[in-house]
Amino acid sequence: MARATNDLNAVRMLLGPAIMYSANTIVFTAGALGFMLAISPKLTVFAFLPLPIASVIIQYFGRRIHERFERIQAMFSDISARAQENFSGARVIRAYVQEQSEIAAFENANQEYIRRSLGLVRLMGMLWPTLELMLGAAVVIVLWLGGREVLFHRMSVGDFVAFNTYMMQLTWPVIALGWVINIFQRGTASMVRIEEILSQQPEIKDETVIGSSGDPVIGSSENLSHGSPDFALQSPEAPITRSPDVVGEIEFRNLNFAYNGTAVLKDISLRIPAGSSLAIVGPTGSGKTTLVSLIPRIYDAAPGAVLIDGRPLRDFPLDSLRRNIGFVPQETFLFSDTIRENIAYGIAREDATPTLDEIKAAAEAANIAQDIESFPEGYNTTVGERGITLSGGQKQRTAIARALLRSPRILILDDALSSVDTHTEDKILNHLREIMRGRTTIFISHRVSTVRNADAIAVLHQGRIVELGTHDQLIARNGYYTDLYNKQLLEEELAEV
Ligand SMILES: Nc1ncnc2c1ncn2[C@@H]1O[C@H](COP(=O)(O)OP(=O)(O)OP(=O)(O)O)[C@@H](O)[C@H]1O
Ligand SMILES: [Mg+2]
Repeated sequence: MARATNDLNAVRMLLGPAIMYSANTIVFTAGALGFMLAISPKLTVFAFLPLPIASVIIQYFGRRIHERFERIQAMFSDISARAQENFSGARVIRAYVQEQSEIAAFENANQEYIRRSLGLVRLMGMLWPTLELMLGAAVVIVLWLGGREVLFHRMSVGDFVAFNTYMMQLTWPVIALGWVINIFQRGTASMVRIEEILSQQPEIKDETVIGSSGDPVIGSSENLSHGSPDFALQSPEAPITRSPDVVGEIEFRNLNFAYNGTAVLKDISLRIPAGSSLAIVGPTGSGKTTLVSLIPRIYDAAPGAVLIDGRPLRDFPLDSLRRNIGFVPQETFLFSDTIRENIAYGIAREDATPTLDEIKAAAEAANIAQDIESFPEGYNTTVGERGITLSGGQKQRTAIARALLRSPRILILDDALSSVDTHTEDKILNHLREIMRGRTTIFISHRVSTVRNADAIAVLHQGRIVELGTHDQLIARNGYYTDLYNKQLLEEELAEV
């Protein structure tokens, strides 16, 4: 935020006033200097004697101003971030009675900001008088030498007065020079900070140049048999085979995945046939979210470890891949907009704006339509920042409606039913079964009720698939899933008592 406001303004100053005053200074200096040289070259040289010293001083101060200004901007960033966090986290702050300590921390940050700003002001307070001193020295030299010239009749009084007037004319441009240098230092410091953001390249992007990896292309990926160990070596080339159409078969092949060296997924091999449903259960931290994040390439796995329709993910253009996937993340994110825009998000901005009927159908399928209709402004109700005026379950169902509206070939629900009761969950699942017929669905859940009807259930434990099969098969295995089932059965019985 600081970079988008303060820094941007500093760059604007660089482009506007800095250029204007530079031009001003150049024109004034050239004009006045010309006349001064015409009157007396000797006196002009003496008048400009203090100039080299002035430029050394400007250099010296300039560097320091630059450094201090950078530190001030960094501090301003911190303060903005802190203020933003305090507002969006207001509920948590109140719940943990942290108002006073947050105020104190904010106060501290501001004091530090003042301290650093004063440091800069002090520096500038020194720069300007020093420059004026140099100018004063020039005036003294001219008065003394020029006065003598006049006394000895080597120069007329008129020329002497004219010379002095021209020199006075130069006062402002020289001071402006100091100021311009100051603006210039700030502007370039800010430009560097903005450039840092502008030059960022997304880590995950479309493969562009053919054969950029330099590896020769051996065969088409489609003809390789499953599990071929050579597969991972294949370069992510072949734009010829690119096609935006996704049928929906997903496969993980000997997939290993690590975050910064920490292995999270280990040797996962799993095929999800097109049109089927897979449920993933497992203890928290076992890697469920990580596994499904690899499908829309939120994170990138090794080339060839994740395939759709038998082709490496990188064969698909990123936007068509993501457009074919409806992803409901574990943490719902709503925009501070109307509920209608929130559901239509991602489609409204492309080509066709969805009609209200389509939005209603998606809301119906996600079982949120009734709630929305009960709101005073229906679909035009604004949901507040990040959906703060909705309940947790309403937020989740809005997010599901958003994913369903795209009618994706692949739907991924990451614990997306965790905030709804089992009755509502049943309804949503029934709708989903209809809508997702012929499409691929992946559920992540901690609840047996969500997953029991899936075509296959995978149990993830410490990054490995330890159990795989249908509900009945897994119950017969007597492992983690059976445990989970028995516990939840017990809970239900207890709840009924
Ligand atoms: N962006 C990340 N950077 C580094 N480590 C991460 C990141 N995301 C997750 N992890 C780590 O990876 C492991 C698996 O996380 P993941 O979110 O996949 O678990 P999960 O099975 O979805 O858990 P939960 O049921 O709680 O949602 C955890 O140990 C977690 O700390
Ligand atoms: Mg998760």
